[in-house]
Amino acid sequence: MERRPATILCISMFALLVTVFLLVGCAKKSAGPSPVERGKYLAMAGGCGDCHSPKTFTAAGPVPDTTKLLSGYPSGAKLPEIPKDMFGPAQWGAITTNDMTGWVGPWGVSFSYNLTSHPATGIGNWDEDLFIQALRTGKFMGTSRDMLPPMPWQEIGKMTDDDLKAIFAYLKSLPPIDNSIPAPLPPSQP
Ligand code: HEC
Repeated sequence: MERRPATILCISMFALLVTVFLLVGCAKKSAGPSPVERGKYLAMAGGCGDCHSPKTFTAAGPVPDTTKLLSGYPSGAKLPEIPKDMFGPAQWGAITTNDMTGWVGPWGVSFSYNLTSHPATGIGNWDEDLFIQALRTGKFMGTSRDMLPPMPWQEIGKMTDDDLKAIFAYLKSLPPIDNSIPAPLPPSQP
């Protein structure tokens, strides 16, 4: 049986539509990861968890505690006694707690911050601008005291706005963990 031109036209239009949908689908896929996915990748490559994630201890050494990722120095943890006269030009530069969330150096003691979305103890109430400002200026909370070592804000703060926004989106997507970070301690010796 011979097909009518209208039917052929309909079939061709349908085929064209399917092709367009497929192409749009492919284009979407190749548009890359979402900000949260990209932020997760950048936070991983930037080693944020090395200092900001509490650890559990295994035979092979400390590993990030996946139930508390990026929640900072565990509040209530007991800081081991700090040895005297450790730091100096020909001596040690810094020491760290065994989970790398607490740091002692000539600047005193610094505690890595809670980067989860908890509103009171983390960054839940921050916005993108405050996050970028803190990392660009090295000011704690964006405007207050100087951020202490070993937080590498000098390097992290040089990431592009888009990268920092992606990291922020990822951090905001983390479940809120109520963990209040102690204020830093001043140096115990000159
Ligand atoms: C070598 C350890 C280390 C690494 C790596 C690190 N941090 Fe930090 N971070 C710290 C410490 C310690 C503090 C607390 C500094 C202080 O109290 O002044 C801090 C503080 C911060 C603050 C400041 C919070 C505030 O209230 O201003 C932000 C934001 C932050 N880190 C984000 C990050 C991000 C994002 C990454 C990864 C891209 C990262 N950090 C990697 C150790 C680290």
